[in-house]
Amino acid sequence: MEVKKKKELHEISIDGCRKIGEGAHGVVYQTAPDMLVKVYREGVSLDDIHREQALCRRAFVKGIPTAIPFGVVRVGGHYGTMFELLNAKSASDYIAEFPERLDWFIEKSVELMKQVHAIEAESGELQDMKQQTVVWLEKIRTKLSSVHYEKLRQILESVPDRRTLLHADFHLKNIMVCGDELMLIDMDTLCTGDPIFELATVYNSYREFPSINPAAAAFLGIDVKTAERICDRTFELYLEGDKTSSIQNAVHTARLLGCIRIIEYMDRNARPESKQCIEHCCRDIEMLLDIKN
Ligand SMILES: Nc1ncnc2c1ncn2[C@@H]1O[C@H](COP(=O)(O)OP(=O)(O)O)[C@@H](O)[C@H]1O
Ligand SMILES: [Mg+2]
Repeated sequence: MEVKKKKELHEISIDGCRKIGEGAHGVVYQTAPDMLVKVYREGVSLDDIHREQALCRRAFVKGIPTAIPFGVVRVGGHYGTMFELLNAKSASDYIAEFPERLDWFIEKSVELMKQVHAIEAESGELQDMKQQTVVWLEKIRTKLSSVHYEKLRQILESVPDRRTLLHADFHLKNIMVCGDELMLIDMDTLCTGDPIFELATVYNSYREFPSINPAAAAFLGIDVKTAERICDRTFELYLEGDKTSSIQNAVHTARLLGCIRIIEYMDRNARPESKQCIEHCCRDIEMLLDIKN
């Protein structure tokens, strides 16, 4: 089936095209005044790409301000997806150019996050992040003591079951600044669940990964201090006026949930940094659970 799809794909060339961005899965080139192609890295399957396209369409239809995806193509030996080119800068480039706008940006990004979280999905429409995290916790169980595993399981169990729409990779390279408005791209993690799972990915992007390796902040185009500032202010603004959760409790739960996600990801994708990341997150889980009880 995959071979058949491959043959049918339209082939395009990116010779002479301007590179406009890069992420973990691909490199992005402008192919026309209003069009781009995201050229996927080795190892991203056609099924993953079709899945991402379906999620982009779902996000668009649900009202998330995002770019419209067009077809899947071949670019030399790689797959690509055509997208509407947004007349915008990534927040990463924007903050590098206008560092004095950082606080404005954080406020707008929390507004955007709340706009996404105001949308509900139908039951079964999208991956449920709580169920997904339960599966991840089972997979990494052997890396934890039985006491820590049991505590984590109880914490996860106590997260409310919700169908709130979550982007789940909400960071500077996936947020675009268009004039005074923000838009979101990169929908392959779109899912549903309690917003604490979104905050967990925010914590991972801006604090957990940079604490393991400062290169993670550099990847976002910022230094570690700025990454920490974005994280802390995002939690503060998101939880402002929330009587049900203190910032301290939300950070505690978000960190634990974030660590489960990193350990499972690093265990599944053998990377040079995997061992160090897993050890670091296991230590953090132990520390967080031990100080709390
Ligand atoms: N529709 C778009 N319009 C303008 N720039 C884009 C668009 N999509 C992606 N980019 C640029 O390409 C970068 C990587 O795109 P992204 O879809 O996040 O790739 P990845 O899945 O590899 O993270 C973004 O950070 C942004 O700079
Ligand atoms: Mg991205």
